[in-house]
Amino acid sequence: MDTAPLPPSNDARRGSLACVGMGMTLGSHLTPLARSQIEQADVVFAALSDGIVELWLERMHPDVRSLQPYYAEGKSRMKTYRQWVDLMMDEVRAGKRVCGVFYGHPGIFAWSPHKAIEVARAEGFNAHMEPGISAEDCLYADLGIDPGRFGCQHFEASQLLFYERRIDTAGYLVLWQVGLVGDLSLKRFSTGAAYRQVLVDVLSADYPLDHEVIVYRGATLPIQKPRVRRMALRDLPCAELTAEETVVLPPGAALKQNPAVRERLTALDKEASIA
Ligand SMILES: C[S@@+](CC[C@H](N)C(=O)[O-])C[C@H]1O[C@@H](n2cnc3c(N)ncnc32)[C@H](O)[C@@H]1O
Repeated sequence: MDTAPLPPSNDARRGSLACVGMGMTLGSHLTPLARSQIEQADVVFAALSDGIVELWLERMHPDVRSLQPYYAEGKSRMKTYRQWVDLMMDEVRAGKRVCGVFYGHPGIFAWSPHKAIEVARAEGFNAHMEPGISAEDCLYADLGIDPGRFGCQHFEASQLLFYERRIDTAGYLVLWQVGLVGDLSLKRFSTGAAYRQVLVDVLSADYPLDHEVIVYRGATLPIQKPRVRRMALRDLPCAELTAEETVVLPPGAALKQNPAVRERLTALDKEASIA
């Protein structure tokens, strides 16, 4: 009797994908789980912050393939990120156990790991993200910021320019990718002072121009120290800024009480005989 072929089940598909974080600082941030995903993979793809970190990774696995050469000035970053997904998925579909290693946390301001996991799962493969220590984690430690104290908003800096967003100045504001702020083309590695001036003009709707901004670079090598530069908002356009820096604006306004909700809570406490 003829039977229709069964669609491939999860079990039948041998390939798998793990996207793991390398952390920020070479040698000290890799978690045991991320390390074991790397060591047990058939093939490892790497998008790391530094050639030295890549050499270190090569000591952990004989088949490490760098994703960095797919970047090129004048080529859309989205094209590069799609190629990364295709490269990883080609090997998954060939039945390999694939590990993508990304600096920091693989799911923070990183398009390809999320997309590759989505595609792999849609095709019936096992796919998993293993978190890592991100620039955000290092920033809290090095700048002594607790995001729970006043709250904390994170934005890709260009998103503040391309879209109308509401900033809550009573909390911290963390801006990522300020070095290439305003790049509509997605083809450039940096923009410049004129583009940062547009960012400052947008921010000046919510902050005075003498408001402090912190330009932060976390250590990527164990011999480095974090770099912390403080300046007035008006001076941000003229500052030298690399692609590896994150900008923080401390709160500019006091937290505002909400008397109506407080009264409601007090009434509830009374009902429950807590007050
Ligand atoms: C594409 S995102 C990658 C973030 C990364 N996945 C993570 O978990 O930190 C690149 C942005 O991360 C931030 N970044 C990268 N390296 C950094 C460093 N060493 N110190 C501070 N921020 C950094 C910058 O805002 C940069 O524009």
